[in-house]
Amino acid sequence: MNRTKIYGHRGAKGRYPENTLLSFQQAILQGVDGIELDVHMTKDGEIVVIHDEFLNRTTDGTGFVRSYTLEEIKAFSAGSKFSSLPDFEESWLLEKVPTLKEVLQLLAPYPIELNIELKTYTFEYEGIEEKTIALVNEYGNGRKVVYSSFHLPTLLRIKAIDPSASIAWLLNQVISNPLDYIKSIELEALHLHKDMVIDHLNDWKELKDLVRVWTVNQGDEMAQLLDAKVEAIITDYPELAIAMRQERAV
Ligand code: G3P
Ligand code: MG
Repeated sequence: MNRTKIYGHRGAKGRYPENTLLSFQQAILQGVDGIELDVHMTKDGEIVVIHDEFLNRTTDGTGFVRSYTLEEIKAFSAGSKFSSLPDFEESWLLEKVPTLKEVLQLLAPYPIELNIELKTYTFEYEGIEEKTIALVNEYGNGRKVVYSSFHLPTLLRIKAIDPSASIAWLLNQVISNPLDYIKSIELEALHLHKDMVIDHLNDWKELKDLVRVWTVNQGDEMAQLLDAKVEAIITDYPELAIAMRQERAV
């Protein structure tokens, strides 16, 4: 039985507006083991779920997330920029940038994992680690949560606040001696860009249980990683990855 977990990247980004409640709901319906999302902080200190530092690409707003209060950000549509997706519906225009609290509340009935990526490499957002952990403690319903970041100081802060937290380092280039990092800062996993893993599967064989790979969208790439039994695949198309895993189970 193939145990590789399938995480929906920003929900089910391939078909729905990324990082919206709609996208997360659809990923759940597709049967994901977990979802991945990205967080930033507003001017008034609220944790919001959006990929970029700025609003322009994914909403009809402009400027930095941190320049707006939550109430101001809620005035923008998080669906209008996605009208070229094949299943677009007018109702998507009503999607808003969700807060982390709203996503946690949406997930409450479902026993899936959650990967919160803290986007702290451009702005550090003082206090984002404490606030994120507090929200998970209050609304996480005891689910497994993995905190990931490209920014190592963020992961160290999380570990200092909650030594039992699961942390994962996001990497898009090779580092020497990954096991040293895993042991010394108690990383639960490495979240690796697919180019670091595909075509280098032998290099990761011993560490496959500690490797989650992003963003894996092509069927041939999914097949290689499923056969290599990496711990998880993070994909914009979770339904495809789930179907391919199912084929391998019979
Ligand atoms: O967490 C995996 C992946 O989401 C990291 O890159 O830019 O899609 O957030 P990005
Ligand atoms: Mg991400």
